[in-house]
Amino acid sequence: MQELLSTKLHDETRQGETFSMDTIDLNLPLKNFYIESYGCAMNFADSEVVASILHKEGFGSVKEPALADLILINTCSIREKAEDTVRKRLTEFRKFKKTNPGLIVGVLGCMAERLKGTFIEQEKLVDIVVGPDAYRSLPGLIEEAYTGQKGVNVLLSREETYADISPIRLNSNGVTAFVSIMRGCNNMCSFCVVPFTRGRERSRDALSIVQECEALFNEGYREVTLLGQNVDSYNFIVTRYKTKDIVQKTVTFANLLEMVALISPELRVRFSTSHPKDITDEVLFTIQKYENICNYIHLPVQSGSSRILQLMNRTYSREWYLAKVDRIRELIPDCGISTDMITGFCTETEEDHQASLSLFDYCKYDLAYLYYYSERPGTLAERRFEDDVPLDIKKRRLQELVDLYREHSLRTMQKEVGKTFKILVEGFSKKSEEQLQGRTDQNKVVIIAKDNFKKGDYVYVKITHCTAGTLFGEVIN
Ligand code: SAM
Ligand code: SF4
Ligand code: F3S
Repeated sequence: MQELLSTKLHDETRQGETFSMDTIDLNLPLKNFYIESYGCAMNFADSEVVASILHKEGFGSVKEPALADLILINTCSIREKAEDTVRKRLTEFRKFKKTNPGLIVGVLGCMAERLKGTFIEQEKLVDIVVGPDAYRSLPGLIEEAYTGQKGVNVLLSREETYADISPIRLNSNGVTAFVSIMRGCNNMCSFCVVPFTRGRERSRDALSIVQECEALFNEGYREVTLLGQNVDSYNFIVTRYKTKDIVQKTVTFANLLEMVALISPELRVRFSTSHPKDITDEVLFTIQKYENICNYIHLPVQSGSSRILQLMNRTYSREWYLAKVDRIRELIPDCGISTDMITGFCTETEEDHQASLSLFDYCKYDLAYLYYYSERPGTLAERRFEDDVPLDIKKRRLQELVDLYREHSLRTMQKEVGKTFKILVEGFSKKSEEQLQGRTDQNKVVIIAKDNFKKGDYVYVKITHCTAGTLFGEVIN
């Protein structure tokens, strides 16, 4: 599942790169950092901003924690399990401190924001704690840590978007990249810790987003995913000064999508996540208008029961959500739709659960991220409601959803056999270097024989067979 994925990140772009002397703080020796990221795509994108900040300070990246002078762990608080994984990993880092007493260990991200200074008291091994809006202060905190002082900066900001920092692509395939377009969230879903760990919503300068996407395209990237917790509420005011007049123009998410799509028809544009209450017809018409904006929408529903949706403070009902799905399919008939769903939220009955199953039956999602409810300290739900669904029932309901989803996905994939899709090749398949892997517009993975194709190529593929998760095909270019 997406948030439980952990990836050891490393920086391949550093090899052969030259540094301008004026960007290196000569007081700091060239040191190595290792960064490990957990959580959502936004956290992975943040690690790339952190890598860029550290590079400017003369740090080089390594692939193994054993080789590092600085170990950073970019954490997630979304569920208890995600936090447990981080604690376990920190325990494993203890051994490196024994062999390298000068080693600095830093905790970044949402768990740093949630637990603040208590982290340093509880986890003796941790030297610095830095929240998602405070990464610019990392060099100073690291320098202090080398002198033996522990440091915490978890100030949340109303303005920080790191718009001027060019992320260093970590673990990149050179074809697809994430681009953050906003930070924070104002929605206050009752189960969710994100508004507390990421702060108020703010949109990044539209021109800096377009410039970053253009630069990626010029470097050979062929797909960008625009990231935000709620991309449809993107709103940036561009101010221009014309002689004595000030001209202001609001850039909506639909405008931004169009600006990025216009960079080149060869650049695919994806985005995530859409809140069902905010996605507009204007966005759907923009997707319709540009062939390079992928026909794929991640539209988390969370529950199929209107009563539970109200307790979750999602601000839409089951009927409203289904009408939105119908509208998407009316305007973009072949649109892939994916979702997130939580089982066992406070007071959820069997009847509510059946409503979630029947919603699944109706929507026939192309992809679903399914979780059981995990109470998070400080959230509205923790303060207002009792976490009263026993764990075994939460898990049983989750399993029923997983089973239904598997049944649907095999059938959905089987319907694609015989059809032709344009796919963007992303690299070798996980199983063999004789095969390549790419994605359809609707985000489905397709495997083809390698032949003379390479990553970054667009190819037309006729689907010959499938499993529940993967399509296999032959190129018909
Ligand atoms: N902003 C997105 C939205 O509005 O749907 C989702 C953001 S959240 C990082 C990703 C998913 O984690 C949510 O859609 C939800 O399904 C799940 N999630 C969040 N809090 C949770 C909790 N306390 N227990 C279980 N799952 C949770
Ligand atoms: Fe959390 Fe809701 Fe914001 Fe998504 S929209 S990040 S679920 S509060
Ligand atoms: Fe986790 Fe924070 Fe993302 S809580 S899901 S890393 S915004």
